[in-house]
Amino acid sequence: MEQKKEINQFDIPFAKRTYLNNSNSRLLKKLLIFSPLIFILFSLTIIRLIREIGFEPLSNVNFQTERNQDHRILGHLPYKEIPKDKLVLIEPNIEVHVDMRESLLKMREEAKKDGIYLVFLSGYRSINLQNNIFYSIKSIRNQEAAERARVSAPPGYSEHSTGFAIDIGDATKRETDFETEFENTGAFKWLIKNAAKFHFKLSFNKNNKYIDYEPWHWRYEGSIDALKVFEISNK
Ligand code: DAL
Ligand code: ZN
Repeated sequence: MEQKKEINQFDIPFAKRTYLNNSNSRLLKKLLIFSPLIFILFSLTIIRLIREIGFEPLSNVNFQTERNQDHRILGHLPYKEIPKDKLVLIEPNIEVHVDMRESLLKMREEAKKDGIYLVFLSGYRSINLQNNIFYSIKSIRNQEAAERARVSAPPGYSEHSTGFAIDIGDATKRETDFETEFENTGAFKWLIKNAAKFHFKLSFNKNNKYIDYEPWHWRYEGSIDALKVFEISNK
């Protein structure tokens, strides 16, 4: 019995115990302590990455908007429609902004004194009417928007909707109505010389890159409201 006990002591191997060496253990402890902080930092980085990727198109839009600060479309600036109570009738079918009536009629009277007969062709146009003009004529003429926009503003982008624009012809040369040839009439020559005295300005001159020359189209800038409306256009 005594003998057997001794043999067993030799047969049983010493238990093998391994210890983490000291530096590894300290690192593990530190990791455990700081794990919430590491988790938060990791989450924040992921959120930031998602945001950067997710909002990139939006920041591009903002950048684009900043570049198009005046919000032109096909070269035309946006204009609000004038409230109806600011409109006055100056001809059976022509309404204009009340601010410009007196000056406009005075200009016609003064021109007459010089033997020039101005005729008013088009004044205020609602955005709805501008919509019909822009889209119906565009399809009739089989034109693309950019082509049509050279001669007609898209709805919401016409000076005519402000009531401060007026198309003028020469009563003795009606064949030149809305034609570039209007520039050869006495009416146009008189306007070039005198319109500024009545606070009228040619809107679309020959230098405009997107919109065709319109010698018949004049706008009024003789009131604070009118100046505010055309402020961006004059920059
Ligand atoms: N013809 C000018 C551009 C307009 O439609 O307002
Ligand atoms: Zn016009």
